[in-house]
Amino acid sequence: MRYAIIPAAGFATRFLPASKCVPKELFPILDKPAAQYIVEEAVSAGINSVIFITGMGKESILDHFDTINPKFPVAKLNSDIKSRIEDLDSLVDVISVRQKKPLGLGHAVLKGAELVDRKSFSVLLPDMLVVPTGSVNSMLEMVKLHERTGRSVIALMKVPEHMKSKYGIVEGTSLGNNLLKITKMIEKPAPGSTDSNLAVVGRYILTPSIIEILEKQEIKKGSEMQLTDAIVKLLDSEEVLGMVIDDDNLIFDTGSVEGFVLANTFLAMKRFPEFRNSLKDLLEKNL
Ligand code: G1P
Repeated sequence: MRYAIIPAAGFATRFLPASKCVPKELFPILDKPAAQYIVEEAVSAGINSVIFITGMGKESILDHFDTINPKFPVAKLNSDIKSRIEDLDSLVDVISVRQKKPLGLGHAVLKGAELVDRKSFSVLLPDMLVVPTGSVNSMLEMVKLHERTGRSVIALMKVPEHMKSKYGIVEGTSLGNNLLKITKMIEKPAPGSTDSNLAVVGRYILTPSIIEILEKQEIKKGSEMQLTDAIVKLLDSEEVLGMVIDDDNLIFDTGSVEGFVLANTFLAMKRFPEFRNSLKDLLEKNL
């Protein structure tokens, strides 16, 4: 698997005014921007060409993956920070495609897919942060499953009833081992319209057939091109597999203020256990 498409052209209105000048994808989760976690996740699965779909005001996302500005006194930094900067300098080369108009996730993926030589590719949505709880690398597992079966693979997570309307929800037949053959996919279902609680995480491996489907998909006036609609069409001609990944990962929706705060708090408490008592004290005394 060579390519990862990372759609990053959205405006993140939920985070205004913070997102007015700084792309949401560069908001720090602890001391790394969200986009770096996503690129590292792709690279850890052996993917080495990263295509960002960007738009006006988003250029600094690409700057982040350049070598560091020589004005920074890197040689004088402590060895821990220095090695993290060196790792980032050599992490990956990124490519960028502009999405001139906000025409939806399907359209963003199609823009990126123009660069993937009609090969299978992955899509990682940067709003979703996937933090492994153990040694399983789910993105790598998805790549391996695709290589074994030739099928598209979609990462899934279990969500409570009230969260279903925020995500794409899939129905399917269990194949055991947290895998299923997807039979139906509904984007942001109305309450009561599906019994399934399996939501699309925002990690996809897609076969090139999806490109032809997206190319034919019309965008109705005032609406968007949905990736889910294209995957629903794909189900008519190809088997699509779902992989439930939330037993092996914590998944944070950092596109919401709540998910962003939880991700930051959790990662801080994990990395700096000494902060836990200060946080507890602060909350107990003041809230
Ligand atoms: C997109 C997808 C949806 C998926 C979600 C994950 O929705 O359309 O199926 O569950 O990402 O974050 P969006 O969040 O862009 O509205």
